[in-house]
Amino acid sequence: EKGGYDYFMLKEIAEQPKAVADTLLGRIDAAGSLCLDELRISAAELREVDKVVIVACGTAFHAGLIAKYAIEHWTRIPCEVELASEFRYRDPILDPRTLVVAISQSGETMDTLMALRHAREQGSKVLAICNTNGSTIPRESDAVLYTHAGPEVAVASTKAFLTQLVACYLVALYLGQVRGTKWGDEVGAVIRDLSKISHEVERVLRTMEPVRELARTLAGKNTVLFLGRHVGYPVALEGALKLKELAYMHAEGFAAGELKHGPIALIEEDLPVVVVVPSPRGRSVLHDKIVSNIQEIRARGARTIVIAEEGDEAVVPYADHLIRIPVTPTLLQPLVATVPLQVFACELATARGNEVDQPRNLAKSVTVE
Ligand code: M6R
Repeated sequence: EKGGYDYFMLKEIAEQPKAVADTLLGRIDAAGSLCLDELRISAAELREVDKVVIVACGTAFHAGLIAKYAIEHWTRIPCEVELASEFRYRDPILDPRTLVVAISQSGETMDTLMALRHAREQGSKVLAICNTNGSTIPRESDAVLYTHAGPEVAVASTKAFLTQLVACYLVALYLGQVRGTKWGDEVGAVIRDLSKISHEVERVLRTMEPVRELARTLAGKNTVLFLGRHVGYPVALEGALKLKELAYMHAEGFAAGELKHGPIALIEEDLPVVVVVPSPRGRSVLHDKIVSNIQEIRARGARTIVIAEEGDEAVVPYADHLIRIPVTPTLLQPLVATVPLQVFACELATARGNEVDQPRNLAKSVTVE
């Protein structure tokens, strides 16, 4: 049932192009507009929304962090993202005009369930983004947008994450479509780019052998750091989480701009640092800033592992290892940038002799608070 792969995780990583395509299927009409009639929240209600609050845990939380950039950019609705386990204990400000989005692969995560119950008690509408039909979280929500990743067996989430991102983009674009904000060339173009993205994920998967080789050389390390900016920051967090879970290594993700506020003190000779580089097009200021971050850490001896777009030549002189990803619109970049980090963590776990599909101390669904 592992389809010829040694681990479910490898199979699930390989299934990502299909999972992404399936999650888009039937949700974009021939004219290139979104049809999400399956949401049982009316367009009129969505037009009233004045705040979006995303609650989730772990990898799903990282999808939420990325969603915030998309929602605020495309809809101009303020969006907060919060760990479900923290949410209700701080007496959050919620009302009927708040749209709460609960993201969960399993649909059974107790922290997320308790957060959404709290939100509904305050009169907010809850939209679940979930991969498991008929599970508790969608049953208790006002609306659900299912991700179509298929069953995810490995404890470490991979294909579910990519489909959560797709679902979040769909929600953001749909809010934009319904409300008419920023609904113009840009958003239409994003839908076209999204429709092509599964091929780009496929292309990334075909170029992963050097990433595996690199991972094997790092099996004896104790620490790996991850840096990113903008949507690359949650990608860095996700890369670090995968490594903790699978390789049992100390791994931390930082916003690259925070380096100088503390973490740069950690940099020492030969410390592996993975840097997710934003596109040099569009937000080029961010790109230039991250290139100087790479220079800074390399000058202090770090071994730089740089994930950058094809054609981005500015990073070449400072990259000890260069991992190329396809040219993608900035907000969609996490769909391609995360894949090498999944492969990296999986290979490191294997090299360290760890159980890939069932890491120690972890369960696939966390049904206790
Ligand atoms: O089923 P959920 O998406 O609600 O699970 C949330 C987290 O427990 C989950 O993403 C966890 O962090 C994964 N093991 C990450 O790989």
